[in-house]
Order: sequence, then structure tokens, then C-alpha cells
Amino acid sequence: MNVFGVDIGGTGIKGAPVDLDKGELSEERYKVLTPHPATPDSVIEGVHEVVTHFGYSGPLGVTFPGVVVDGVTRTAANVDKGWVGLDARTQISEKLGMPVVLLNDADAAGVAEITFGAGRGRGGTVILLTLGTGIGSALFVDGRLVPNTELGHLELHGHDAEKRASAKAREDEDLSWEHWGHRLRKYLAHVEMLFSPDLFVLGGGISRKPEKFMQYITGISAEIVPAELQNNAGIVGAAMAAAKL
Ligand code: BGC
Repeated sequence: MNVFGVDIGGTGIKGAPVDLDKGELSEERYKVLTPHPATPDSVIEGVHEVVTHFGYSGPLGVTFPGVVVDGVTRTAANVDKGWVGLDARTQISEKLGMPVVLLNDADAAGVAEITFGAGRGRGGTVILLTLGTGIGSALFVDGRLVPNTELGHLELHGHDAEKRASAKAREDEDLSWEHWGHRLRKYLAHVEMLFSPDLFVLGGGISRKPEKFMQYITGISAEIVPAELQNNAGIVGAAMAAAKL
């Protein structure tokens, strides 16, 4: 069965039809750049462009880089503040003329990883962290998601953690992998202190380059593995959610 997923990110809006039996994209994904400022109207236009590129019509899963409760976007750390308090699911659904499920981007990626990727078959407490423009989190207890955990905004040495340890922080501050790796280690130690997870899954673009920084992540009791679905996890997770519509 093929269902469509769209992942709204800080840099791109990406989408593709997903083969839900395999947890893989069934066609090459299509991407448009995230508009700046990332206002609701301009981003929804981008979602429309991605979906119409494939001529798709049917249940649609969309991720959002902020808290989403019952289709309402409640926070907007890295997109325009016009999203806060918006019934975004209804707006997207009306614009595209199809049923829509809207969920947090890291939650979607986590659901995909725990079903098809690095967390497959894992019970206990599993935490997926996406290290990209921000830091997203997905917390699972025996395979069941606790949505909207927002662990990227924990305070780390007086700072919003994602401002210190996201992939964007490394680029913006031109940090060496070692320097950034030490920040990530401190962040993971903090999350571990709070949740004692059995497994951390590290996602986002950097999951393709674990050899650059994994050697600096020491002293953490939990197992740490890179995500397997990499940048497609959000699209796959969104489509999985839409399949339940
Ligand atoms: C947002 C999260 C999101 C993460 C990754 C954070 O700034 O608050 O909701 O999952 O960025 O996009």
C-alpha cells in the first residue's frame, strides 16, 4: 500500500509516496526549499507543490517542526511565529482537498525508526534524537510513543540545548567535530540522567557520518546507534500515520 508523507523541515519541504510494507519511499522524493520567513501560507503552498508534483490524492501525513496537538501547531522554534495556535491540519486539508494527519517531525521519524529502522523490535525506553536545524525528540516506552517530548529545549549550561548541540550549532559556530561531540556528550548525559533510556537513536543528516563524532560520546550507559532511515524517516513516519486515517 502506498500513502504519501511530507516532512516540513528548517531547510526543505520533502515528500514522496511510501511503501508501507517495506517502510521505504516508493519513488524518489521531491523537495522544495523551505520559504523564509516560513509563514503558514508559504509553507502550506510548498506542501501543495510537493504533493501535486506526484499527482497524489488520498490520505496525507505531514510533519511539523514543533508541538502538534489535535492538528493545532503550538510552538514554532525554527519557523514563523504565525504557526503558534494555528489549526494547521485543517488549513492544509482545505488547501489540498484531502484528509491530513499532522504530527511532530521527530515523533514521525521515531515511529519510522522503531518500526523499520534502528529501534526495530526494541522494548524498554528508547529515545530518538534528531540533530538538524534544531534537536527533536521521540520517546518510546515498549514501542509506544509519548508524543511532543521536546527534549531539544532542555536547558544545558544555561542555554537552550538545541542552540548548543544541534547540527546547525556546529555549522554556525564552525565547531570541530570533537568540540561539538563533547557538547553532544553532555547533552546525552543530561537526557540520560532524566530518563535512563536503554537505547538512544541519533537521527538527522549527521546520522550518515557517525564516524566523525561517535568516539567523543563516552560515559553514557545507554546503547547509542545512528538512525537507519536517515533523512527519509520523517516522510515514512508521516505516511504511516496517514495510513491510519
Ligand atoms: C522543535 C521540535 C522539533 C525539533 C526538530 C525543535 O526546535 O521545538 O518540535 O521536533 O526542533 O525539528
